[in-house]
Amino acid sequence: MSIEVAQVGVRFGGVTALQDVDLTLTRGEVLAVIGPNGSGKSTLFNAITGFVDIASGRVAVDGRDLAGMAAENRIASGISRTFQTPRINPAASVEEAVLCGFHPHARTGFWQGLLRPPAMARMEAELRQRRTRVLEQLDLLGFARQQMGELPMGIVRLVDIARAMAAEPNYLLLDEPAAGLSKTEQNVLIQQVRRLAGQGVGVLLVEHNFGLVRRLADRVMVLDRGKVLLRGTADEVSRRPEFITAYLGTNKQ
Ligand SMILES: Nc1ncnc2c1ncn2[C@@H]1O[C@H](COP(=O)(O)OP(=O)(O)O)[C@@H](O)[C@H]1O
Ligand SMILES: [Mg+2]
Repeated sequence: MSIEVAQVGVRFGGVTALQDVDLTLTRGEVLAVIGPNGSGKSTLFNAITGFVDIASGRVAVDGRDLAGMAAENRIASGISRTFQTPRINPAASVEEAVLCGFHPHARTGFWQGLLRPPAMARMEAELRQRRTRVLEQLDLLGFARQQMGELPMGIVRLVDIARAMAAEPNYLLLDEPAAGLSKTEQNVLIQQVRRLAGQGVGVLLVEHNFGLVRRLADRVMVLDRGKVLLRGTADEVSRRPEFITAYLGTNKQ
């Protein structure tokens, strides 16, 4: 069970954003994608999740080629993601933001619920429980009724991660999830991502904070100008001279 990316290329007009990128993400492992700004990390996420078209190569999930499959159907096939800039409705409450991420009927009211068949009501109750559980896990229960637009970015990011996790994905793609998080929030994030990986979720992590990558990733892949420069464990890649020039040269964090 894996996501397979083979020889993937993405172009934007004259710009080659990705070239011949290969990766395998198996369930239960955490693979970090690092690299300087503009090296193609977000584009790689977009290519996997169907937000951009690939010019060449192949993306497959559990043996199924995703060519031509729309982004929303890819999510249904077990892939969940966050965005580098969270896409939020500022008027939604935290609990709405988490719940509406994974179920289109979940926001209907109590009375409508009574008019529905019992199976549907049971499903909604289960979804609410799942929402509460995921908010609890990410230490967000205290924010449940607050509006997204009123929250600091660190909390917005955690809510976005909670939304992605609530979908109970087999593969979770996190685009710079720790940006703007406090140390305590980062620790909650690490603990939860580990827990998910322990349950068999494959995690693809784009992250600038190498300290966090070191603590979390089983394997690391370094992108540079759209190509894979290095692969290995965090320790292995961090010792390579190419890493120091490509990565640390432009990311002094
Ligand atoms: N929608 C887009 N249209 C045009 N160019 C894009 C688009 N998205 C990304 N790019 C370009 O592709 C390259 C890789 O960008 P990106 O994947 O965002 O890098 P990273 O996430 O590593 O910072 C950059 O040169 C960027 O300017
Ligand atoms: Mg990016």
